[in-house]
Formats: sequence, structure tokens, C-alpha cells
Amino acid sequence: MTASRRIEALLQDRFGEPFTVDPGWPGLERIESLIKHRVIRRYSPQPVDAALIRLICACALSAPSKSDLQLRDVVVVENQATRQEIAGLIPDMPWIGQAPVFLVFLGNGRRIMEIARLRTKPFPNNHFDLVFNAATDAAIALATAVAAAEAMGLGACPISVIRDHAARVGALLDLPERVIPFAGLCIGWPADEGRMSPRLPLAMTVHRDRFDEENAPDAIDAYDRRREQMAPYRTQRDTQMWGETARYGWSEDKARQYAQPQRGDFGAYVRSRGFSMD
Ligand SMILES: Cc1cc2nc3c(=O)[nH]c(=O)nc-3n(C[C@H](O)[C@H](O)[C@H](O)COP(=O)(O)O)c2cc1C
Repeated sequence: MTASRRIEALLQDRFGEPFTVDPGWPGLERIESLIKHRVIRRYSPQPVDAALIRLICACALSAPSKSDLQLRDVVVVENQATRQEIAGLIPDMPWIGQAPVFLVFLGNGRRIMEIARLRTKPFPNNHFDLVFNAATDAAIALATAVAAAEAMGLGACPISVIRDHAARVGALLDLPERVIPFAGLCIGWPADEGRMSPRLPLAMTVHRDRFDEENAPDAIDAYDRRREQMAPYRTQRDTQMWGETARYGWSEDKARQYAQPQRGDFGAYVRSRGFSMD
């Protein structure tokens, strides 16, 4: 099968709608690698060469950065005691301790403030937008690291749950004021193929000229049914609170997930690290 036909089939699976991909379009190899994305949480014990990790970091840090401010950094966690302590904080995600490589992406609002001090300039920008920009830069770098790893046949899994333990992770990594953990990233050679996650239809998430959520409930129902046919949930979340339902789709799962408070203290942590956030 040609790359264009493979991409059409992958997109049909992902979004449940037809796509036409012209075989003459440029860059289809890279497009296919992006479309094939799937999170990988099981890795072969085969180590990943340190030079590959350096290359992945270089790709991540080549990604766009707001105003070229470069408000993000990466920690390669090589020390096994540090890694195992982070893994021990999150026992229900054993892949954190098992992956051959573990990176932590950071939002860095510190360097630019240091630069202001070095160049004897005022810094009237320690407000919410600084945190937002730092998180955005970190997120773009993380996504680019995933794409780079996948282009090389590696598998990856971002880990934002480290933010449930932000203060401890920050202490373990010696993070100074105004440098905060954004997410970890497990990387390794895949031990399984992972599962493709179907996404909401483009008709719902790509808007034309104006935001439109008119048919959202129907579109969500249809999406739930499509996901259920492709990959039904094996377990239901928080059954002690919500019981077992016959139809358990993506929207039920996400509603249950966000029926529990998550990281309500993260804002206080970010403020305690020197960001103003006003
Ligand atoms: C910012 C971010 C944080 C994530 N945090 C975690 C995490 O803490 N633990 C985990 O196992 N997966 C985590 N994931 C992986 C998502 O669960 C996964 O991407 C999602 O289920 C969709 O699957 P897909 O990536 O295969 O499309 C994270 C993904 C992103 C983008």
C-alpha cells in the first residue's frame, strides 16, 4: 500500500471520517509518523543510546518557542535512586520506573528574569502570562520529543502525574525558584504496539470562522459509540461512587475522572515557587 493510502486508512480509523490524501503531496513519510502516534507504556529492556536521547532533546528544543524566549528545559533523569523515588510516588504507573529513559520537561520562568537582572532591566512581567508561556513552551517541546522518538521507532509516554507530587519532584531535581515540572516523559523501544486512540471528529474540533458547539451532545454520543465498537473500556472508573453502567463510553469516563478534584493545590505550589500568576 502507498503512503497516501496508509495515511487515509489511519485517519479514517482515528477520526471516523473519510480523508483524501494526494500521493503527490510532500512530506508524507513524516505525516504518516505523526498520524500513527500512540502512547507506549511497555518497553523492551534494550537500552536507548544516550546519543539518541541527546538527539531527541535537540529536536524538542528546536521546536517553536514563544518570542524565542525559550522558557523550557529538560532534565534527563539518569540517577536510578532519583528515578525510583519518583516512580515510588506513583505506584499505579509502573512504567515510570521501568522505562529505559525518563525525562522531565520543565517550565522555566527563571532564566528570563535572571537575564533582566544581568542586563539591569526591570521585569514587570511576572504575572499569569509568564506561567502560561512557560507551560506552553514546555508542552511544545514535550510533543516534539514524542514525535522525534516515534520517528525513530521508539515509544513514549508523557507523565503529568508528577505534578501531583510537584514539591517532592522539584526537590529531587533541585529545581530553583520559578522553575516548575511540567511533565515527565518515558521513552524506550516498544514492547507492544500500543492502541490507537480515536479522536473526536474534526467537525466538532475544527471550527470554521466562528466557534460552533451546536451539535455537541449528538456528536459526543456518536463518538462514544464509535470508540465503544473499536476499543471498549475494560474497566469502569469509581464504581463505588457511580455504579456500573451498561453503556460506558469516553464521555462517561472523562466525566467521572473530572468528578474528582485533581491537583487543586498546584496553583499554590506554582505561587510558592515565585510565580505571581495574577
Ligand atoms: C501532557 C500529557 C500528560 C500525560 N500524563 C500521563 C500520565 O501521567 N500517565 C500516563 O500513563 N499517561 C499520560 N499521558 C498519556 C495520555 O494518557 C495519552 O496520550 C492519551 O490517553 C491518548 O492516547 P494517545 O497518546 O495514544 O493518543 C499524558 C499525555 C499528555 C499529552
